Amino acid sequence: MTRFTVNNQPVQYKMAPDTPLLWALRDASNLTGTKYGCGTGDCGACTVDIDGEAVRSCQRTIGAVEGSYVTTIEGLSRDRSHPVQMAFLDKNVVQCGFCIPGIIMAAAVLLKKNRNPSEDDIRAGITNLCRCGIYPRLVEAILLAAS
Ligand code: FES
Repeated sequence: MTRFTVNNQPVQYKMAPDTPLLWALRDASNLTGTKYGCGTGDCGACTVDIDGEAVRSCQRTIGAVEGSYVTTIEGLSRDRSHPVQMAFLDKNVVQCGFCIPGIIMAAAVLLKKNRNPSEDDIRAGITNLCRCGIYPRLVEAILLAAS
C-alpha cells in the first residue's frame, strides 16, 4: 500500500510500488488531465508538481513518492483559474491542447521558484515539448502571468 497526498486529499494505492505515478493518477484516481505522451520522460505531457518540483510522472514510481504532496492540473487552483491559466487564455496559447496541462504545471512551478523570470529563464525552465509549436506564445503568457 502506497500513501501520499494528491490535490490535498490523502490517497492509498494498492498497486505495485513500481507503478508509474502517471498511471496511478489516471487509472486509479481518474485524474486524466495529466497526459501520456511519450512515456520516456522526454515530452513533459505528464508533468505534475511533487513537493514543489515539476516532475514527469511517467518517470516517477508511486513507491518513490510515498509521503509526498502531489498536485495535478485538476488541483492547481480551487475557486478560480491560476494566473498561468488566465495568461494562456489571454495570449491564445493553446492549439491542439494535449501538452497544455503539463506545460501549465511546469510554468506554475517555475513561477513559484522565480516570480520574475526572464525570457531565457522561461526557455530554460520549460522543457516540455509541443508539436504545434506554441513556444513563442507560451513565453509571452508566462511573462504576463509573472507581471
Ligand atoms: Fe512523461 Fe512524455 S509522457 S515525459
